Amino acid sequence: RPPPLVDGFARRIDYIRVSVTDRCDFRCQYCMSEHVHFLPKADLLSLEELERLAGAFIARGVKKIRLTGGEPLVRRGVMSLFRGLSRQLETGALRELTLTTNGSQLERYAAELAACGVKRINVSLDTLDPEKFRSITRWGDLPRVLKGIDAAQAAGLRVKINCVALKEINEDDFVGLVGWAHGRGMDLTFIEAMPLGEDAVSNIAHFLSLSEVAARLAETFSLAPSHHCSGGPARYFDLAETGGRVGFITPLSHNFCETCNRVRVTCTGELYTCLGQEDRADLRAPLRASAGDDLLDAAIDKALAAKKRGHDFVAQAHGAMAPHHRPMSLTGG
Ligand code: GTP
Ligand code: 5AD
Ligand code: SF4
Repeated sequence: RPPPLVDGFARRIDYIRVSVTDRCDFRCQYCMSEHVHFLPKADLLSLEELERLAGAFIARGVKKIRLTGGEPLVRRGVMSLFRGLSRQLETGALRELTLTTNGSQLERYAAELAACGVKRINVSLDTLDPEKFRSITRWGDLPRVLKGIDAAQAAGLRVKINCVALKEINEDDFVGLVGWAHGRGMDLTFIEAMPLGEDAVSNIAHFLSLSEVAARLAETFSLAPSHHCSGGPARYFDLAETGGRVGFITPLSHNFCETCNRVRVTCTGELYTCLGQEDRADLRAPLRASAGDDLLDAAIDKALAAKKRGHDFVAQAHGAMAPHHRPMSLTGG
């Protein structure tokens, strides 16, 4: 039995984020440029290969898998991957199977996701203003996403909303978003914009510290620190007025790398050991070289031993270091 995954700082890795496609039907300003070049389809691992790769991580003690992208639900046949991984849920080898989605395809897939043992999902939604939504996503249709969220809730999925806080773009929307989400029984998590992607510099220009967001929310709501933990980097607060929870993901203002428990696998079979670093290892060659997992295990261990202490987003935001221009859509956030 291969040993559990531990990095060079004694951090136990039991969570993988798998980006199943770099493609997306939206072009969120902070994520992709309008004329982004997607990977040639021939470069992608097949869904069977992604399942086998995930299986190798599960055998090493990974308990939580989040499928991301790009938009995971635009990958053709993606439900076969969910179905395959749901068998690992049934045996108890895997504790949680989930996804982060832009919601555009949820109406079609919500029931199937629930049938695959998915219990909760995260939906990215930065504003409730249809025009602003269109401008942030470049052509996204808000009513369609809202219908997707309805379908997810009707299928029994718990929905958490993710909102990237953007100065001068959606800063007037926060109170309304919280009221709306909590009114529908959904938690809402704010995220600090990270200097990643082709237009990293614009993300720096629109950066808004979540300390400021919390202070503004406090003008309307009473926030009390919550014991809730979702297994991700968010710190949660309970709101007395709504009975709901607000989470804060603060890679820049309050670093959480010390408790990092995750790595990322891309649709081309690369292992990124940190969202904020370029360090990566090819897993496709060892995956294809043999039917057993020995080569894969060795490649994973070698990469983990070199996993860095954390990201350099703060230095990058201050111009002291060049940002990484790799799009977030390759590693799925
Ligand atoms: P749960 O806590 O399980 O609900 O998931 P999550 O909120 O961690 O996942 P989600 O995919 O919704 O990610 C929300 C945001 O957190 C995204 O912007 C991610 O990029 C960011 N995030 C997740 N993990 C990390 C991480 O390891 N490092 C950094 N810097 N950001 C992360
Ligand atoms: N900074 C912060 N969050 C980002 N996301 C995408 N790009 C960035 C960025 N540069 C968010 C999406 C989604 C999550 C997976 O990552 O909005 O909710
Ligand atoms: Fe982990 Fe890197 Fe994210 Fe820090 S930035 S929490 S080290 S993945």
